[in-house]
Amino acid sequence: MTSKELRQKYLDFFRSKNHTIISSASLIPENDPTVLFTTAGMHPLVPYLLGEKHPAGNRLTSCQKCIRTSDIDEVGDTTHHTFFEMLGNWSLGDYFKEKSIEMSWEFLTSPDWLNLDKNRIAVSVFAGDKDAVFDQESYDIWKNKIGISEIKIAKLPKKNNWWGPAGLTGPCGPDTEIFYWTGDVNKIPNSFNDDNSLWVEIWNNVFMQYNKTSENKFELLKQQNVDTGMGLERILAIVNGSADNYQTDLFKNIINKIEQLSDKKYGNNSEIDKAIRIIADHLKATVFIMSDEKNISPSNTDRGYIVRRLIRRAIRYGRQLGVVKKMWIKEIAKVVIDDYADVYFELQKNINFIITQLDKEEEKFSKTLELGLKQFENQKLKVKSISGQIAFDLYQTYGFPIEITKELAKESGLDVDEKGFLKYFKEHQDLSRTASAGMFKGGLADASEETIKYHTTAHLMLSALKKVLGNHVSQKGSNITAERLRFDFSHNEKMTVEQLQQVENLVNQAIKQDLIVSCEEMDLEQARSKGATGVFDLKYKEKVKVYTIGLGDNIFSKEICGGPHVNQTGILGKFKIKKEESSSAGVRRIKAILQ
Ligand code: GLY
Repeated sequence: MTSKELRQKYLDFFRSKNHTIISSASLIPENDPTVLFTTAGMHPLVPYLLGEKHPAGNRLTSCQKCIRTSDIDEVGDTTHHTFFEMLGNWSLGDYFKEKSIEMSWEFLTSPDWLNLDKNRIAVSVFAGDKDAVFDQESYDIWKNKIGISEIKIAKLPKKNNWWGPAGLTGPCGPDTEIFYWTGDVNKIPNSFNDDNSLWVEIWNNVFMQYNKTSENKFELLKQQNVDTGMGLERILAIVNGSADNYQTDLFKNIINKIEQLSDKKYGNNSEIDKAIRIIADHLKATVFIMSDEKNISPSNTDRGYIVRRLIRRAIRYGRQLGVVKKMWIKEIAKVVIDDYADVYFELQKNINFIITQLDKEEEKFSKTLELGLKQFENQKLKVKSISGQIAFDLYQTYGFPIEITKELAKESGLDVDEKGFLKYFKEHQDLSRTASAGMFKGGLADASEETIKYHTTAHLMLSALKKVLGNHVSQKGSNITAERLRFDFSHNEKMTVEQLQQVENLVNQAIKQDLIVSCEEMDLEQARSKGATGVFDLKYKEKVKVYTIGLGDNIFSKEICGGPHVNQTGILGKFKIKKEESSSAGVRRIKAILQ
């Protein structure tokens, strides 16, 4: 089965069960300051899991692009990825455990769908602890309704059978996980133990009925939700009888290209395979991140740092593989774009940006890589561990992300004084916004009143910017906390003092007028014809929410957005722009506060 067939089969199955297919959301979460990337299909759905009404109904399904940066260093084996696609189905206060488990079972084992061997399937359920009781209900459904024998149902603790919140707070709950035996069919064990790596987890059904609060309490949610996640790469490999995700069609052409460029062959389970997988995964992830409308380019902070780290690690492994061709990484990127072009339209749309950025970064890093490696080799002979100063020098002078230095050191059996590195780093940079500060762990937007106020203010500001600078202005990113608003938008020049003053005045006038904020659900065409701003390239014909600020002929802003927002602008306070600066080429950044 091809990836295209499988993706479609999954969505078709859930459509036949009255789910609405929704498009993959962006890899860059909207209005969520605590997380860099979308990490699961549920991530864009958090407000709806918390009880907000979704315009497409209460049964949804999607294939969501995801990036998990926590797995970057694991990439290299047959199952880990930085970029992956997650198939998922959701019940927002509709069906719960029984229906969810039954549908998963039907999709996996029915001859009409995936037709997997039932004997190879085992499951786990939540064993219970001080926060929540043993999931007897799921256990009984598996045993009595589905007919899985008791020895193939493991009861496991929170560490294994609890999912979420995606960050520190938010929706979460016990889950039941479905495993598939990838070993010899004649050697299926009599009992199930998820420590055995031949049992591969293929699907996770999460029963989201709790909200974890900032006081570490598990409160019952208003509604009982289902959130499931199945990695497309993994299930595709399984359906095709392989345990190596990299041998599916989602990697075939990319790997062929790497083989051609390096004159090496994939499939001998050696160090060569590891290098090929790292290059394939990292460059694919890079292409997807850069295809986002927000124009993320390699840099030393935030998402840009992740992109830089991925590209540079891929280049280093390319060198290890013996790729001699110069400016080669764009060739892999072109294959990625071709392979996915008809599923993710944004790739082709942003191809020029992607290729230009890759070329620039490769040129930059190639100049220093050899020298940096030499420097590392010299130091290695002299020292027992890599000091903070050496690591910082490799970073500063040769452009080695600290993670590459750590990897090189590990290969030579050396330690790196990371604390020392951070000390030097801190002296040179604002550590608070970088990868090393640990902000990449992920988390959810807080839905505090203050944060919501800033969210509505962001709409007012975008509209004011358009009025002052022109209609070319579009949102490129936002980062909103309870203390301030940071907003990136497309514009080529530094704003003048007068322009900033005009924007401030317009926003403050809109606040003074105490405009009503209203929300309507409509289809995309309608939103477009009503002049709403926002993302228009959804793949499926789904409904969207449009937030309007103002009434009748006094409409200040109209934007497609998931919410939430305040009801009236009067409560926002006084709007003040603190800073206007460049964010990246053609993108400006404003920091603003409410007083
Ligand atoms: N949200 C379910 C999962 O990621 O497994």
